[in-house]
Amino acid sequence: MSEKYILAIESSCDDTSAAILCNNVVLSNIVAIQEIHQQYGGVVPELASRAHQQNIVPVVHQALAKANIDKKQLSAIAFTRGPGLLGSLLVGTSFAKSLALGLNIPLIEVNHMQAHILAHYIEDGNKEMPSFPFLALTISGGHTQIVQVNHYFDMRILGESLDDAVGEAFDKSAKLLGLPYPGGPLVDQYAQLGNPEAFLFPKPKVNGLNFSFSGLKTSILYFIQRNTKDNPNFITEHLEDICASIQRTIVDILMDKLKKASEETGIKEIAIGGGVSANSEIRKRVKAAEGQLGWTTYIPKFEYCTDNAAMIGIVGYFKYLEKDFAPQDVSAKARYSITPNSID
Ligand code: KG4
Ligand code: ZN
Repeated sequence: MSEKYILAIESSCDDTSAAILCNNVVLSNIVAIQEIHQQYGGVVPELASRAHQQNIVPVVHQALAKANIDKKQLSAIAFTRGPGLLGSLLVGTSFAKSLALGLNIPLIEVNHMQAHILAHYIEDGNKEMPSFPFLALTISGGHTQIVQVNHYFDMRILGESLDDAVGEAFDKSAKLLGLPYPGGPLVDQYAQLGNPEAFLFPKPKVNGLNFSFSGLKTSILYFIQRNTKDNPNFITEHLEDICASIQRTIVDILMDKLKKASEETGIKEIAIGGGVSANSEIRKRVKAAEGQLGWTTYIPKFEYCTDNAAMIGIVGYFKYLEKDFAPQDVSAKARYSITPNSID
C-alpha cells in the first residue's frame, strides 16, 4: 500500500498533543504540557480547555514542520473522541472536524483507552509487539483497567478501579506528604532510597479483578495524623521509608490483580501502558514475573505511555485501513467505553 500520512490530535485531559504518522511509523509527536495546573494541585478543567485552545494550532504546526509534511499531503485526521474532560475533548474534536472538512479528507474518531493499548503497535525499530490475545494493564492519572485484548478492536474490560485511578492514588498520597503535583514521580524517587517494609498499609478487599484505591488514601491520612501528633518532623525524618511503603502497597495491589487475571484467562502475554508504567517498582515487578511466571511483557517507550497523539495516530492508521471513518456530526464523549455496544 502507498504511504498514508495521518495527523493525530489528543486533547482529552491536560496535554495538548499532535502527531504525524506515515503508516505505522511516527514522524513527529509533539506534546504541550500545561504547567498551569501545578499551582492548583490537580487539573482544573476550565483552565485545561482554555490552554488547549491556545496550544492546538502551534502544536499542529510544529508536528507538521518536524515531520516535514505539508497539510496537503495528509490522508486523514484522527482525534480523541473520549473518554476525558468534555471541554478539553471539544477543542480537539472541533479542530479535527474543521481541518478535515477544509482539506476534504476523512475524519477518524479514536477511543483514548484503546489508544493507550494499541500504542504497543507503533513501529519502533525491531521491538516485539504483543500477540493476541494479551492482557493490557492501563495505569495512569485517569485510568486503571485490566483489559483482555483479543484483536485490535475486540477488547473486553476484565477489571477497573471502582474509585480513584492508580495515578491519583500516587498523587494524593504525595499531596498528604506535602509533595507538589503531580507527586507520583517524586514518590518513586524517594521510594528508591527507602525500605518498602518499614510501614504496613492495608490492602483493599475488592472482589474479582476490580481495584479500589480510596481506602489507601484514608489510611495514609490517619497514619500521618497519628505519627505527626507526637513528632511534627515525622514525615521529613521518614519520607523515603513512607514513600517506599506506599509504593510497595500500590504495586502489590496491581500485581495481585494482574496475576489473578493471567491465572483466570491463561494468558501470559502482558502489556503495560499509561503514565504510571514509568514507575520503577512496577517495571521491576512486571519484568521479574517473566522469569517467575513465564510471562512475556511489553512496556512502550515512555513518550508513548503518557498521554500523546502518536497513540491516537496508530489507532487512526488501523481504522484508516478498515475505512472506518467518522461522519462530520460526530461529537465528543466524556464517557466512552472500549467495549462495543456499551451504553456509554
Ligand atoms: O498517562 P498520564 O501521563 O496522564 C493521564 O492520563 O493521567 O499519567 C499521569 C500519572 C500521574 O498521576 C503521575 O503522578 C503518574 O502518572 N506517574 C507516576 C510516575 N510517573 C508518572 N506514578 C508513579 N511513579 C512514576 N514514576
Ligand atoms: Zn490517558
